[in-house]
Amino acid sequence: MQSDILIIGSGAAGLTAALQLAQSKTVTVLAKGALSDGATAWAQGGIAAVLEPGDTFEDHIRDTMVAGGGLNNREAVEYVIENAPPAIERLAALGVPFNPGDDERWHLTREGGHSHRRIVHVNDATGWAVQQALEAAARANPNIRLVPDMVAVDLIMGRHQQRFSTSGRIHGVYALNRKSGKVETFTAKATILATGGAGRTYLYSTAPRGATGDGIAMAWRAGCRVSNMEFMQFHPTCLYNLEVKNFLITEAVRGEGGILKNPKTGHRYMPDYDERAELAPRDVVARANDSEIKRDGLDYVHLDISHRPPDFVKHHFPNIYEKLLGLGIDITTQPIPVVPAQHYTCGGVLVDLDGRTDAPGLYAAGEVTQSGLHGANRLASNSLLECLVFGDAAARHIEANWSEFPEPPAVRAWDASRVTDSDEEVVIQQCWREIRHFMWNFVGIVRTTKRLERAKHRIDLLRREVEDYYSHFRVTPDLIELRNLVEVADLIIRSALSRKESRGLHFTLDYPETSPIARDTVLAP
Ligand code: FAD
Ligand code: SIN
Repeated sequence: MQSDILIIGSGAAGLTAALQLAQSKTVTVLAKGALSDGATAWAQGGIAAVLEPGDTFEDHIRDTMVAGGGLNNREAVEYVIENAPPAIERLAALGVPFNPGDDERWHLTREGGHSHRRIVHVNDATGWAVQQALEAAARANPNIRLVPDMVAVDLIMGRHQQRFSTSGRIHGVYALNRKSGKVETFTAKATILATGGAGRTYLYSTAPRGATGDGIAMAWRAGCRVSNMEFMQFHPTCLYNLEVKNFLITEAVRGEGGILKNPKTGHRYMPDYDERAELAPRDVVARANDSEIKRDGLDYVHLDISHRPPDFVKHHFPNIYEKLLGLGIDITTQPIPVVPAQHYTCGGVLVDLDGRTDAPGLYAAGEVTQSGLHGANRLASNSLLECLVFGDAAARHIEANWSEFPEPPAVRAWDASRVTDSDEEVVIQQCWREIRHFMWNFVGIVRTTKRLERAKHRIDLLRREVEDYYSHFRVTPDLIELRNLVEVADLIIRSALSRKESRGLHFTLDYPETSPIARDTVLAP
C-alpha cells in the first residue's frame, strides 16, 4: 500500500502529525493493536503549559531543566514550552473538555517539580479525552487511513529495493497483519515513527502492554543514533495490588495535598529527603519510596489524601476513587498502598527540532525520541506536550520540503520462504520474562557497575538465542516485540554502563557524584 506519508503509531504524536499533514496529503497511520492502545489514552495528570497569571515561560523552562539535571537542550526546551499554549488551544478546538477554573478559563492542577499551577486536565483521565478527540478528527478526515492491528517489523531501506541502493533513505515499513498473519508492505515518501516508549522492558511498569520500544529498535537497525537510554523514569506512586499490577496514582494527588507515609511507623518521610517534600521531582520521590521499602522490608508505602474533604477528593480524582473503591480502598478515608514502577522512556531516537532522524525520509515524534526536552529526567506532564509540539513540527517540516522527497522505489515483498512456523513458543515467553526480571533487579532505580555488568552478560546470551530463533521461524507479534525488547534492553544497559556519574534518573552507587559537565549519551549503530 502506498500513501504520501506513513505514520507508525496512533497516539498523541502520530495523530497530531496526521491531522496537520492530511490538510494536503494522503496519510496512512498504523497501530499495532487497537488505535487507543498506546500510553496516550492512559495519561492521567494532564498537559503542562504556562497559562496561570504570574507564571512565565522562563519559569517553566527553569523547572524543566532543574528536573532534567541540566542535561536538557535549552533550545528544544524553549521551543516546546513556547509552543505549549497554542498546542492546548488546538486540542480545545478539537473538543477536548479541559476542566474549567473558577475564575480562569481552565482549572490548573499542580505536579512535582512545577513551581506554578500549570497542568490543564480532564479530571484524572486527560489522556483518554485527548486520544478520543484526536481519533474522532482523524476518522472524519478522508485523507487519513487508519490501520489498526498492523505490527511494524522493520523499516524499508535501500537493501529492500528491487534495485539495491545504499542511500540510507527510508521508504516505509514492513508490517505484520495480525488478522491474516501476512507481512505487508507500506511505502511512502516520508515516514514518521510515533511508536511510544519501552516501559515493558521492566517487570513493573505503568506503561501499556505494547510499550516494547519497537520504534527505537527499528530506527537503530536502520542506522539511526539513539541517545540517553539510561534515563528510564520510575513513577513513585503505582498502586500496589496483587491483581491490578500497573494502575497509576497520578502525581496530581500529591499536587493537591497527598502525603507519603511509612506504613510501619506512620512517619511522613519526604521532608527528610528533600525540602520540596512530596512535590520534589519524581526521581527524588521514587528513590525515597524505594529506600523506605528496602530499608524496612516493606511491600509498599502509603499515599494519603484522606485528610482532604471527601467531596474535594471525589471531584478531583473521580476515576481513581471509583477504581480503588472497587478494590476495597476508600481513598477519602484510607491511605493508598503504592510502589515505584517504570513509567517513561526519556531516551530514544535522536531528533532535531524538526523531528528529523539520521535517516533521510525518516522522522520521529513523542516518547520514541530523545529531542533534548527532558534531559536526565522528564518533568511531569511535559510528555503529551512534547508529542503535540513535535508531531506538528515534523509535519510542518515535511510540508515545507515536500518537493525534495523522491517517489518511493519498487521494493521487494517480504521473504518468508526460508522460515517455518515456530514449534517452541515457550522460548519467547521465557526470554521475555527473563529480560523484564533482570532489568528490574539490575538496571532499576539504584544501580551499580557490577549489576549492570551482570545484566549485560545476560542480554548478550539472550540476543544470540533470539537472533537464532528469529532467523528460523515465521514472525509473530510476540516475536517481533521480543526482538525489539532485546535490542532496547541492550541499549539501556550500554548507555547506563557508559555514564560514570549520577544524574537525574541514573543513580549509581559506584559514581554517586554529578560531573560538572553535562553530556548526552549517544550510541551510533
Ligand atoms: P503512544 O501514545 O504510546 O502511542 C504509541 C503508538 O505506536 C500506538 O498506537 C501503538 O500501537 C503504536 N506502535 C507501537 N509499536 C508499533 C509497531 N511495531 N507497529 C505499529 N504500531 C506500533 N504524560 C503527560 O504529559 N501527562 C500525563 O498525565 C501522563 N500520564 C501518564 C500516565 C500513564 C499511566 C502513562 C503510562 C504515561 C503517562 N504519560 C503522561 C506519558 C504519556 O502518556 C506518553 O509519553 C505519551 O502519551 C506517548 O505518546 P506517543 O504518541 O509518543 O505514543
Ligand atoms: C501523572 O499523572 O502522575 C503522570 C504525569 C506524567 O507522567 O507526566
